Amino acid sequence: MTAEPASPAARSRYEAIGGGYAAARRPDARIAAAILDAVGAGSRVVNVGAGTGNYEPDRSGVVAVEPSALMIAQRSPDAAPCVRGVAECLPFATSTFDVAMCTLTVHHWHDRARGLAELRRVSRRQVVYYFEPALTDQAWLLSYWPEILELPTEIAAPGEAFFREHLDVREVQVVPVPNDCTDGFGGAFWARPEAYLDAAVRAGMSSFAQLDAGATARGHDRLRADLASGRWDARLGHLRALAAYDVGYRIVVAGS
Ligand SMILES: C[S@@+](CC[C@H](N)C(=O)[O-])C[C@H]1O[C@@H](n2cnc3c(N)ncnc32)[C@H](O)[C@@H]1O
Repeated sequence: MTAEPASPAARSRYEAIGGGYAAARRPDARIAAAILDAVGAGSRVVNVGAGTGNYEPDRSGVVAVEPSALMIAQRSPDAAPCVRGVAECLPFATSTFDVAMCTLTVHHWHDRARGLAELRRVSRRQVVYYFEPALTDQAWLLSYWPEILELPTEIAAPGEAFFREHLDVREVQVVPVPNDCTDGFGGAFWARPEAYLDAAVRAGMSSFAQLDAGATARGHDRLRADLASGRWDARLGHLRALAAYDVGYRIVVAGS
């Protein structure tokens, strides 16, 4: 099925990095439990910006929406049916779903307000897993790769205030990231700095995929040197001993 195509920027971003997504981005069971608990037992669910299907409920009554053919191609044969389309123009009648969910996608949308209005139009409740920029902007990672903050997906990334403006927010849940998180999203390796030296790990993160080679190499060399000299551990080594940490990931639950 095909609806409106994605914006050229979003399409090329995931046609470029999407190839390694399924390998680098395995859903974390503890984060999945929190998201699925918020989604609840509603029988009709739409997963918008669904990608390869991470965090999607594994049951009937679920439909996915995703613009990238490369991401859709990596969905399991058993995954929910997927419509090729974008959040800004959902190909469904008003009130089709009990729940509209989306995970780690809203910052990629070219018109976030319109996308959230579409979620409200097609569903009674909305569940959004996202990162809170006021917190993630403070991550130690950005002291090595400050250029990430200037990327189109990160400049004015939507946070709680934006969701409150566009959704009828009932609750915002903190989702600490486990020390051994299996998903390789940007903040996942807060206690495992060596992971950011691995090109295959970075390839699964849209922030690194958008960085130019010079900025990537400069941050890589600085981090490698700080790990070798013990400077990173002197400053941040206490993180290695924590089981989980609030890096800034949140679940918004909205509607009724
Ligand atoms: C970081 S991935 C997240 C995928 C999946 N939800 C997950 O948690 O693994 C972001 C996804 O948003 C999709 N995307 C980009 N622009 C979009 C838009 N305007 N509407 C819907 N999805 C979009 C991308 O193609 C990509 O699959």
